[in-house]
Amino acid sequence: MSQHSIFEPYQLGPLSLKNKIVMAPLTRSRSNDEGVVPTYAAEYYAQRAGAGLIVAEATNISAQARGYAKTPGIWSEAQVEGWKPVTEAVHKAGGLFFLQLWHTGRISHPDLHNGELPVAPSAVKPEGQAFTNQGMKDHVTPRALDKSELPGILDDYRKAARNAREAGFDGVEIHSANSYLLDQFLRDSTNLRADEYGGSIENRLRFPLEATAAVIDGFGDAARVGTRLTPGGTQPGNTPLDSTPNETYGRYVEELAKLGIVYLHVVEGTAYVSREVPGNAVDFEALRKRFTGTYIDNNALDLKMAEKLLDEHKAELVCFGRDFIANPDLVERFRTGAPIADAPKETWYGGDQHGYTDWPVATNVPQLQNA
Ligand SMILES: Cc1cc2nc3c(=O)[nH]c(=O)nc-3n(C[C@H](O)[C@H](O)[C@H](O)COP(=O)(O)O)c2cc1C
Repeated sequence: MSQHSIFEPYQLGPLSLKNKIVMAPLTRSRSNDEGVVPTYAAEYYAQRAGAGLIVAEATNISAQARGYAKTPGIWSEAQVEGWKPVTEAVHKAGGLFFLQLWHTGRISHPDLHNGELPVAPSAVKPEGQAFTNQGMKDHVTPRALDKSELPGILDDYRKAARNAREAGFDGVEIHSANSYLLDQFLRDSTNLRADEYGGSIENRLRFPLEATAAVIDGFGDAARVGTRLTPGGTQPGNTPLDSTPNETYGRYVEELAKLGIVYLHVVEGTAYVSREVPGNAVDFEALRKRFTGTYIDNNALDLKMAEKLLDEHKAELVCFGRDFIANPDLVERFRTGAPIADAPKETWYGGDQHGYTDWPVATNVPQLQNA
């Protein structure tokens, strides 16, 4: 039995987390075509309520935000009603639950928008393919957003945050990572705008910071708003990194701190692959020091590495993604040393309860019965 501080409580703004382990947002692509989560999502998330905090899967703030078939939304009444039993189930199981707010921008496809082009800061085509109801399809060149359209998207962020609160979430995480809309504004590889939303770092930060202010306004409490970043990019990568990531994201996190958000959630390294960024292009430690609130570290961690990060005060909270898929009782397995199961990739996206709610707990561990 491990007694490490990772299993001790942590105060995140107004919320008392029972341990320092966060469940990462994980898209599982089981929502219907109206963006309503399945009823069995309540069981799935409640099974994982041993985490100190669960961040729910990326959830579209509007129809325009969609980039993948079968992902949930939080703009319609039916979607809000769909989430309510899920948040109730997590709370009943003793968990705390944030919703990740998503606009995919150019990482989308006309099939998801009745034939209209996806929108982005600039008309720059991503590499790769989109997940549509008709299977994988090549990305297209998006339509550059007119400045007059931006206030409408800020309203969508505000409304989505308000809806998340109405649905019973304890807070929201702004998805400013993985090359989606806000990241597309931040990076000079995808933002070629000539107006006050492009060019200098200050200009490229403008829209993501306005979106943050809108979300804080909508949820009504900055201490219940966090932001997720991937300055080192993702693999497979469809977006080149910013040319000066340390300056761009460094300035960004300073401004986010000024807005009073409660946490910064950073995917360190290259998401999915390694904790390294080619050429050591990003100094994560320097980034962390420029943010004054709680720092959550994610990406390719195991228990030992996570404990070391906490011991060395390199993070206040640690986050696990893939391990939560096949180990609903991940925290108990960590605590007791039970083996960690692997989820085959076929179960990650789409389908039904199979590979979703039917992963067993580690039955050979008696402590689980009392958890
Ligand atoms: C199936 C799957 C779905 C994911 N969905 C999201 C998502 O909705 N939002 C997000 O920010 N990251 C998403 N990610 C990335 C994870 O949150 C996490 O950053 C990544 O898996 C690395 O952490 P890990 O090594 O602990 O798995 C997803 C990853 C996987 C494997």
